[in-house]
Amino acid sequence: MRELRTQVGIVGAGPAGLTLARLLERAGIESVVLENRDRDYVEHRIRAGVLEQRTVELLTEAGVAGRLHDEGIVHHGIELQFDGERHRIPLSELADGRTIVIYGQTEVVKDLIAARIESELPLLFEVGDVSVHEIDTEQPKIRFSHDGERLELECDVIAGCDGFHGVCRPSIPEGVLDSFSRDYPFGWLGILADVPPSNDELVYAHNEDGFALLSLRSPTLSRLYIQCEPDEDVDRWSDEQIWAALQKRLGVEGWTLHEGPILEKGVTGMRSFVVEPMQHGRLFLAGDAAHIVPPTGAKGLNLAMADVRVLAEALVHWYEAGEARLLELYSDTCLRRVWRAEHFSWWMTSMLHRIPGGDAFDLKLQLSQLRYVATSRDAAASLAENYVGLELE
Ligand code: FAD
Ligand code: DHB
Repeated sequence: MRELRTQVGIVGAGPAGLTLARLLERAGIESVVLENRDRDYVEHRIRAGVLEQRTVELLTEAGVAGRLHDEGIVHHGIELQFDGERHRIPLSELADGRTIVIYGQTEVVKDLIAARIESELPLLFEVGDVSVHEIDTEQPKIRFSHDGERLELECDVIAGCDGFHGVCRPSIPEGVLDSFSRDYPFGWLGILADVPPSNDELVYAHNEDGFALLSLRSPTLSRLYIQCEPDEDVDRWSDEQIWAALQKRLGVEGWTLHEGPILEKGVTGMRSFVVEPMQHGRLFLAGDAAHIVPPTGAKGLNLAMADVRVLAEALVHWYEAGEARLLELYSDTCLRRVWRAEHFSWWMTSMLHRIPGGDAFDLKLQLSQLRYVATSRDAAASLAENYVGLELE
């Protein structure tokens, strides 16, 4: 087995791993990023689209936001729809002028990969059989295969940025982590359509048939979601059926949902999940490796970014000042934000989805809550400050 060494070994080249690598690079700290998929797959995995202002600021400070500033679409509000009417939540007005930016996660990932390659720093795709070892010691190791060769990477610290299904979290000895979770009895069927968005702002729609979301990726690309079964077979839905469901759930008087060719469709499950602590020994978990939120509320990517900002700052402090205090606080610092986002995402999800098996009482409560948010400035402000992202550290 060939032996290599680095300061920070990063497992996973999603938004968390790539951003961490970039922040460390800017601080002069070495890292190696290991990714089990190929570059094309990672760059085209369609997921999030809403960036909080702090995420935009972080990517700007990291020097990877040129295209984001050119092509990202700044939004100042969202719309909530229920009882056949739309109600605008003026996010910026209610949350100190803060905004959100629509820019696909695929594009964030492409920009980060391009920057890493431009810097000629190690980012290995298609690694196999990744495992982490000796995380309780001062020289934790990552073993993996690459180009037919077996390798061992000795590190000072390992960052587990390998998502919910990764290998890092399960490598932590049994009994160390507490986990908290909630499954939801529905999923989202998402499409990317080659048609200009039919509305200037995102629409979160409550409907007796189920939730629907109108979003976008660019002035010519729409992104739309409908509530479906948790284990929905996407092939059961023809394009016509998808558009019909969207028309029904998003339709309001005097407005037209424009249809176009569907370029991509997929189903995503809905889950809330947190492990505590987000660290064991020299292994630090970040992003989806440590926590999952249901997508209503658009928090997942933004939480991943917030984690690696805290982790990068703590590592810089450790290397520069020789002080481990911020690293020791990493988990607690992140978990405060994580739990706020968990609550917000659960709340948005519960308020907007049709509850299978639910009764008229459930429905009345949802509508009352939606009406409250739509008519009370304080209730709307609470939604707004959570949606644009709270300052918590
Ligand atoms: P991932 O993006 O999962 O990256 C982990 C990486 O690790 C992957 O590249 C994976 O291939 C790699 N990996 C896994 N196992 C291994 C291994 N053994 N060895 C090496 N590499 C490995 N969030 C928002 O903030 N806003 C939104 O609008 C939003 N919308 C969403 C819509 C959908 C349909 C979905 C599915 C998610 C959405 N999210 C949203 C959530 C967001 O996409 C995730 O939270 C985000 O991808 C987390 O980033 P990450 O880097 O932690 O994990
Ligand atoms: C998108 C995804 C979300 O989860 C959300 O709440 C808003 C927008 C999107 O993919 O555009």
